Amino acid sequence: MIGKLNHIAIAVPDLDKAIALYRDVLGAIVSEVVDLPGHGVTVAFINLPNTKIELLYPLGDSSPITSYLNKNNAGGMHHICYEVDDILSARDNLLNKGMRILGSNEPSIGAHGKPVLFLHPKDFCGTLIELEQV
Ligand code: CO
Repeated sequence: MIGKLNHIAIAVPDLDKAIALYRDVLGAIVSEVVDLPGHGVTVAFINLPNTKIELLYPLGDSSPITSYLNKNNAGGMHHICYEVDDILSARDNLLNKGMRILGSNEPSIGAHGKPVLFLHPKDFCGTLIELEQV
């Protein structure tokens, strides 16, 4: 059902520092900083040959990243995103297998303008999984 790894998202407490770390220490090419107010995050993208890393920083008062950073002061891996061809059939398949989807079970439009769902981390080895229809 799942296809390519689309991205790994890392929540960071200091975006400038994280960008400098990836650019200057690891030698990666980092995008411009982008505010995504609808998602409550400011992001910078790192394009690797085979996938992307997204640095996530809280934006606004109700950012989904804030509570994560409160628990993980140094930042940490927030979620991984796998591609699927058909998000509704992936959802139905997972629900039939007793897996839990966060929120309403209906896909929302993710940070890349495509339909996404998030799967309950307790059902997946403690990892928050995002599914994105590509
Ligand atoms: Co994501």
